[in-house]
Amino acid sequence: MVQGYRARILHCLDKPSVSNDSIQYFEDGLLLVEKGRVKALGPAQQLLAEIAADIPIKHYPDAIISPGFIDCHIHYPQVDIIASYGKQLMQWLETYTFPAELRYADAEYAKQAAEFFVQQLLMNGTTSALVFSTVHRVSAEALFQAAFAQNMRLITGKVLMDRLAPEGLLDTAEIGYSDSKQLIEAWHHRGRLGYAVTPRFALTSTPEQLHSAAALLREYPDVLMQTHLSENLEELSAIKNIYGEFGAYADVYQHFDLLTERSVFAHGIHLNHHEMSRLVIADAAVAFCPTSNLFLGSGLFHMAMAKRYKLKIGLGTDIGAGTSFSMLQTMNEAYKIQQLQHNELPPLESFYLATLGGARALHIDSKVGNFEIGKEADFIVLDMKATPLLNYRYQRTKTIQEQLFMLQVLGDDRVIAETYLMGKQVYCRIN
Ligand code: GUN
Ligand code: ZN
Repeated sequence: MVQGYRARILHCLDKPSVSNDSIQYFEDGLLLVEKGRVKALGPAQQLLAEIAADIPIKHYPDAIISPGFIDCHIHYPQVDIIASYGKQLMQWLETYTFPAELRYADAEYAKQAAEFFVQQLLMNGTTSALVFSTVHRVSAEALFQAAFAQNMRLITGKVLMDRLAPEGLLDTAEIGYSDSKQLIEAWHHRGRLGYAVTPRFALTSTPEQLHSAAALLREYPDVLMQTHLSENLEELSAIKNIYGEFGAYADVYQHFDLLTERSVFAHGIHLNHHEMSRLVIADAAVAFCPTSNLFLGSGLFHMAMAKRYKLKIGLGTDIGAGTSFSMLQTMNEAYKIQQLQHNELPPLESFYLATLGGARALHIDSKVGNFEIGKEADFIVLDMKATPLLNYRYQRTKTIQEQLFMLQVLGDDRVIAETYLMGKQVYCRIN
């Protein structure tokens, strides 16, 4: 059955800086969905004249329909500790994060948390995410199960960590390898799910474990690799102490064959020119996590430099160091971080990062990220009258850029009226 959705419709065909045709916008558009996929897209008047009169159409006159948001870096167990006071990265990990992650050895606890987490993603309009579980195999299983139940395109992996953490959070190179392998065999490509080999960061894995992570990537060439890179200055000096012989931080990952086009590195705030060019040559991606970078006082991501290098970038909420599940709020803080550096981040560019750019970073852009015909119909309805203030400001906007920026600065989960996965409504805001 075909179903139509009529609204302002916005999506990216390419990076906005590449050409003027990289954004497609229909002020009165129609999206046709059949069997969970995009069947057609265009001006409503024109398409309506071409299609059967009995096709059901949902009409949203004051909303934007956009592809679902893609969160390139988030930790599901850290919902437990979002908004924890007063620490920077290394002390924050010790004080709040590691104790919270210990609970995820319990499959039932993990199941409850995973279901809550998936619900939070959907109510924030996030339809795909690259997610850290904990070191426990059951934690990744719980999240796979919760995402599978919603038919969500989600990627996760069990964390690899064999040193410098509490005993209950440690695996070994062998166990980390065999647990990851078992999870890949069970879940990678099951439904819309994918696996990411997940060494937490170079500090918490021995060289043996980093080697075994690379072995997994060789065995399964289409799984992703996710880790942290260059977030905090204390982290950088600890890396220098342990891995000084490899040069800069990114060189450590390169040395262990973990710097590839399928790598997604969270943060990358303090990268030098050498590291940035290494990442670009490898075609690896960085997840820019603005709310986290501000909350932990980690630093300001050099977007202008990253753009000069043509680094592949996505946006991440980095819950629970990040402070919001909302990709709108993430764009809001990304803008301010660029303001502090006197750089620009136009609304369409952050919109690209939150949709097609994120999909490219996660290698899922052949399936989602925009409304190309045949792609999976993951989309959201953004309500421009969601609050009295938004409604007031909306009446005074003229362009889609103004409206988008208004939503990014003032909006959050309240703006998400509906969320669809493969054409099926999975969230509807209660008015
Ligand atoms: N670096 C290593 N682990 C973590 C984590 O859980 N959160 C953040 N923000 N950085 C990290
Ligand atoms: Zn993180």
